[in-house]
Amino acid sequence: MNQTEFLARYGPAAVVTGASSGIGAAFATLLAEAGFHLLLVARRADRLQALAGKLIAAHGVKVTVCAADLADPAAIDSVAQAAQGLDIGLLVSNAGFGLKGPHQGNDPERMAALLQVNCAAPMQLTHRVIPALVQRGKGGIILTSSVEGFMGIPFSAAYAASKAFTNSLGESLWGELQPAGIDVLALCPGSTDTEAHALQGIDPATLEGMMSPREVAELALLNLANGPVYIAGEQNKAMFDALLGMPRRDALRQMADNIRAVLLPRGQKP
Ligand SMILES: NC(=O)c1ccc[n+]([C@@H]2O[C@H](COP(=O)([O-])OP(=O)(O)OC[C@H]3O[C@@H](n4cnc5c(N)ncnc54)[C@H](OP(=O)(O)O)[C@@H]3O)[C@@H](O)[C@H]2O)c1
Repeated sequence: MNQTEFLARYGPAAVVTGASSGIGAAFATLLAEAGFHLLLVARRADRLQALAGKLIAAHGVKVTVCAADLADPAAIDSVAQAAQGLDIGLLVSNAGFGLKGPHQGNDPERMAALLQVNCAAPMQLTHRVIPALVQRGKGGIILTSSVEGFMGIPFSAAYAASKAFTNSLGESLWGELQPAGIDVLALCPGSTDTEAHALQGIDPATLEGMMSPREVAELALLNLANGPVYIAGEQNKAMFDALLGMPRRDALRQMADNIRAVLLPRGQKP
């Protein structure tokens, strides 16, 4: 599909949540380059405004900004309100965050927010956009999940569980919406070079083989019609194919050992 066909199929406007940094900012940039008008959602309004200004100047598209905290259930109404009057053909539900470390060390309030941002928000946002997409008979939904959604991940229990939810949501919606001409993709990145690692207290310098956010977003857009679930990056795919082919107990032990090695230097107890 060339750029014109892509815009005709999924445009003219897209909503991107988590657009203030990382993979979401890369989605916004790539979509603006392709001529999409955008609604950008995240908490940091200054970042969204700066990105919007840049994209408007470079590509002549219309960009609306919605500063909203998706940990607040009422934020879904704010996003829907900001989307009014825009002809949305693509939802990129990408906002999310992780919590690394022993599960018992997590702050209960952060865990509640994680569930709201990573699970409830995509569920409610898809619920809001689907009727209009069905009416148009075309469009797309990208849910940024993670390779961590394929199996339990020691020291990332809440996050991995939230991404298993995302994968399941994506698969279910793919099955429901195929006859309506709507493509659904649960995008599963592996380690990607964004602010997410530092936010979880992990030194990005300890991580190897990270993909760039642009590369991940580009692959997702290229594979939007190849759902329901897509792993970004051959290396990540090979790694998870191998892990999922192992007896689950062995895979979990191996994963736990690997993650301990990253967490221990910052003083986490095994
Ligand atoms: N980086 C990786 O290695 C990796 C791997 C697999 C999956 N992912 C997934 O990729 C997605 C994007 O993450 P990233 O790696 O690009 O990290 P990032 O740079 O930290 O971006 C996360 C985005 O989500 C937004 N966000 C977080 N909490 C929010 C809230 N309460 N309300 C509204 N927006 C919120 C952030 O904006 P504000 O802070 O401005 O609100 C930011 O724009 C996430 O779903 C993440 O789970 C990342």
